[in-house]
Amino acid sequence: MKVLVTGGLGFIGSHIVDACVGRGDEVVSVDDLVSGKKEHANPRAPNHKVDISDAGELGKIFEQVRPEIIFHAAALARIQPSFENPGRYFEVNVIGTRNILNLAKKFGARRVIYSASSSAYGNQDAPVLREDLSLTSQALHPYGSTKRMGEMLMRDKGRITGGPETVCLRYFNVYGLRQTTMADGPYATVIGIFLGQLQAKKPLTIVPDGTQRRDFTWVADVVRANLLAGESSKVGDGEIINIGAGKNHSIWKVACLILDASPDTIPEELIKSEKCVMAPPRKGEIFSTLADISKAKELLGWSPEISFEEGIKTLKNITSSKLF
Ligand SMILES: NC(=O)c1ccc[n+]([C@@H]2O[C@H](COP(=O)([O-])OP(=O)(O)OC[C@H]3O[C@@H](n4cnc5c(N)ncnc54)[C@H](O)[C@@H]3O)[C@@H](O)[C@H]2O)c1
Repeated sequence: MKVLVTGGLGFIGSHIVDACVGRGDEVVSVDDLVSGKKEHANPRAPNHKVDISDAGELGKIFEQVRPEIIFHAAALARIQPSFENPGRYFEVNVIGTRNILNLAKKFGARRVIYSASSSAYGNQDAPVLREDLSLTSQALHPYGSTKRMGEMLMRDKGRITGGPETVCLRYFNVYGLRQTTMADGPYATVIGIFLGQLQAKKPLTIVPDGTQRRDFTWVADVVRANLLAGESSKVGDGEIINIGAGKNHSIWKVACLILDASPDTIPEELIKSEKCVMAPPRKGEIFSTLADISKAKELLGWSPEISFEEGIKTLKNITSSKLF
């Protein structure tokens, strides 16, 4: 099968590339390297350094590759910088996604699998996030808005208007090998930051008080969801499907696991012993995420296989050179 992975040098995209190569697909990546890394490249999957918001250049790749399946993982993928540059987020995450869909239709791709985001939910009163919840008209940040617009495009420019089959996977806090760390700048995700701080023998920075809860999803589980979404006969009309663990953990619990401290350790102890320090809150962050994952089970036959404890243990057991 001919597969195109956008963002194929990024954290999640590079794992999708590896999985597709591993099962024998002919894989091509498109990544402009804005946050992707050359060292993530799979030697059997060439990368084209092209900006997905440039329809002309992207069109040349489509003409050459004529992919059957597109895993669309390229995006400006961090919350905080989206406040500074909403225009560029719109160009990449919305115009870029539109370009992918237009070209998928023009060159006869069968299906586009979109890396959507749980940030589309914004702040909800419901403790568990189900795909049929009404969304607030305003997301909490430009990143969330643009990822939601991508979902709308998947539906509107998909099969109902003569385009490709489409499906949207709403990921919840993905973690695993190759995730961003402190070395990638101030906007790395929490587990990458904690592991980097642990290696550097620095205190873990808790933002803002550690009681927030997140549903963390192991990257290999996310990849498996993508492969299943590429094949399932039960999807194709822009369905939105949560991909999460279906369990959440407080940031204190994450810190305890990373520090090998008992989960009952009280925060004051960790602060007193200088293993953790408090940091100021950040804009646009919600208190809790927790995915209802019954739709993923029903439509994709997917459920997570790696528990959070196992995932963190695996990450910690890998030597620092392999880790990042
Ligand atoms: N990591 C998470 O927890 C998470 C959660 C929800 C959704 N997502 C989504 O998953 C996808 C992958 O995220 P990630 O965490 O791997 O981020 P990442 O930054 O590691 O990967 C994104 C990739 O897209 C590339 N890219 C960015 N702009 C581009 C452009 N204009 N043209 C071509 N390539 C471009 C980057 O260079 C990078 O390699 C994104 O769509 C993101 O919104 C991620």
